[in-house]
Amino acid sequence: MMKVPLSRPWFDDEEPRAVAEVVRSGWLISGPVVAEFERRFGLRLGGVEAVAVNSGSSALLVALAALGVGPGDEVLVPDMTFVSTATAAMFLGARPVFVDINLDNYCLDPKDAARKITPRAKVIIPVHYAGHAADMDEIMELARRHGLRVLEDAAESHLARYRGGAYTGTIGDIGIFSFTPSKPMTTGEGGMIVTRDPDLVARCRLLREFGDTGKFRWDMLGFNFRMPEVMGAIGLAQLEKLDRAVALRRAVAARYTEALKDEEAVVLPTLRTPEDGNFQLYTIRLRLERLVGDRDALIEALGRRGVSARLYYPSLHRQRVFARDGHRTDDSTLPNAVEFGRTALSLPIFPTLSAEEQDYVIGVLRDALRACGR
Ligand SMILES: Cc1ncc(COP(=O)(O)O)c(C=O)c1O
Repeated sequence: MMKVPLSRPWFDDEEPRAVAEVVRSGWLISGPVVAEFERRFGLRLGGVEAVAVNSGSSALLVALAALGVGPGDEVLVPDMTFVSTATAAMFLGARPVFVDINLDNYCLDPKDAARKITPRAKVIIPVHYAGHAADMDEIMELARRHGLRVLEDAAESHLARYRGGAYTGTIGDIGIFSFTPSKPMTTGEGGMIVTRDPDLVARCRLLREFGDTGKFRWDMLGFNFRMPEVMGAIGLAQLEKLDRAVALRRAVAARYTEALKDEEAVVLPTLRTPEDGNFQLYTIRLRLERLVGDRDALIEALGRRGVSARLYYPSLHRQRVFARDGHRTDDSTLPNAVEFGRTALSLPIFPTLSAEEQDYVIGVLRDALRACGR
């Protein structure tokens, strides 16, 4: 039986060589390798400043703190995203406000955001889900009208370009990326903050490193969120092949779409323009109620034949961690996020997924779609 994971990092000889070089050098933090990684990452995104940190979640926390978010503020986030998009605000004493998603790109719905803005709202966080660009024109316009700052959660959307133009992450006031192993490039753990605003860059650098404004002069509250040099070395190697990695992901996605386009049991992902997405995930939705009611069994059936599949992500407002902020299990203003949480399923996708492996996944999925829920 073939075993196909959901994701698999793409390493070759360069990553271990670069790691060994750092280890041999003995310079493990705050060194030239991470500085070079920041420089090249910023250049690749069209000339923005980049600040490397130890995770995407740390990047969210630092970016929100740099924007001045604090107690009493509200931060608008899509109801369907990874948990730390919302919990980052809570660490700063602010309250996440959950916004519904669109069912065509699975990203924050600007119309619902408009309904949920109060005088306490300070920041809006569009998430480019699965590496698909959110509706940035509408979101930027909304933010301008209400005086909100825009933090783009581009954790998944490396090199995705909004309507073929600017790179996601570089459109709002500030953007963040994640480099966990399922992302289009990885450093194991790791994250990057990008912005064109020099004040924000300076604040992020201080917040990342103890708020140290001189040699052991601590003028402000800061974290220790530095990216180690070893991770920077892996990041540089991964950045070199990021364009190829994204092209390969797009090819895998096109192959799924071609094979499944006549499959009536599922809804396939769509893009506004081909450049809008990098296919960090390939997320389908189950169309038939018999399958929706039996999604766990479907996932198990795939797993039994070696194919990993999973829901990325459940609706956040139902999670207990948010109960303390007064969020209840009231679904009524979040119908699309709830529908997504009920019906979605992500299939294996990564640059080195072979045609043979993909054909196997497609065959196993077809069998399970026919067999489950009967
Ligand atoms: C949309 C989104 N936001 C934030 C994160 C957090 O990034 P990290 O896992 O690097 O902390 C992730 C990834 O895990 C993500 O997918």
